Amino acid sequence: MRGARRSVPRLLFLAASVGLLLAALTGCDAAQRGYPVAVFRPESPEATAIRDLAIILLIIGGIAFVVVESWLLLAIFRFRNRPEEEAIQTHGNLKMESAWTLVTAVIIFAVLGATIKTMVDVAGTASAAAVPAAGAFPGDAVVMRVVGHQFWWTFEYPQQGLVTANEVHVPQNRTVKVQLEAEDVIHSFWAPRLMGKTDTIPGQINYTSFVPIQEGTYFGLCGEFCGAQHAHMGFRVVVDSPQAFSDWTRNQLAPAAQPTTDQQIAGGQAFQQSCAGCHSVRGTPAQGKRGPDLTHVGSRGAIAAELMENNPENLAIWLTDPQAAKHGNLMPKLVLDQQTIQKLVAYLTNLK
Ligand code: CUA
Repeated sequence: MRGARRSVPRLLFLAASVGLLLAALTGCDAAQRGYPVAVFRPESPEATAIRDLAIILLIIGGIAFVVVESWLLLAIFRFRNRPEEEAIQTHGNLKMESAWTLVTAVIIFAVLGATIKTMVDVAGTASAAAVPAAGAFPGDAVVMRVVGHQFWWTFEYPQQGLVTANEVHVPQNRTVKVQLEAEDVIHSFWAPRLMGKTDTIPGQINYTSFVPIQEGTYFGLCGEFCGAQHAHMGFRVVVDSPQAFSDWTRNQLAPAAQPTTDQQIAGGQAFQQSCAGCHSVRGTPAQGKRGPDLTHVGSRGAIAAELMENNPENLAIWLTDPQAAKHGNLMPKLVLDQQTIQKLVAYLTNLK
């Protein structure tokens, strides 16, 4: 009796926990980023090929699941242990053994064939994606270099000398050839609606490519466990019209905006003292390479690799204690008073 009375609140608690967990997993933030169903909403030929393969594999897997489980249930009930009855012996039944070997082999080879075809289709545009030494983009393609770091991304258009971090723009309807590298450990570059997952490996160059079709913002993430903040190693790819892409490129190539207000000027001085050792702001003495390039940080939608929206409040939170905001990232907690932090926020926000 006591047990029964206690179990009702327990069940309610369990139901509430599961509900909360589901709400968290499918929350509006994830939905806005296209997760968890992003793979099924492709916006490039490469992501579409991968989606199609995923559907084929789900169908084959689904059929195999239903057939095997039905057979199992049939065996459990139809041939359950009955007294004084010897089980039928099928050992050495050539027909039966050939049948299940053959059917399994056919399924595996069908899956293999479909997978290889998709890999070839997707790799088609990625081949010979090496970055040429200089000059215009080869053909109509855009060549991008991506470097994975704990826990953020460098994006670079090497031929143009354009360097940015965590948010990159690409032109609509042109092949984007991506050269992938890693600084420290293995990461994996993945924007599910645009391309398949490709590892970034220290000391090795990998390639991927995609043709973005639809203008919009696409979210990406690190697809390989890489340390404490693997889950907060996001990025975004903005697909632009040709005009918007050339505007973005021109703005990113320009040196940093000059601080104008007193607050911004003071922030710029504080930046050179406290931040320049690790961060670059082109057009200023700050040339640090350890952290993300901040020349146009004010133009980005998020900070800390998609951890937080880019706004003055969040910048202040970040500068106050980066380790509290994102434990284990490589930015140390600096000893800055709130006045200095507000000046830095004013300076950084102005770097559009
Ligand atoms: Cu980088 Cu996981």
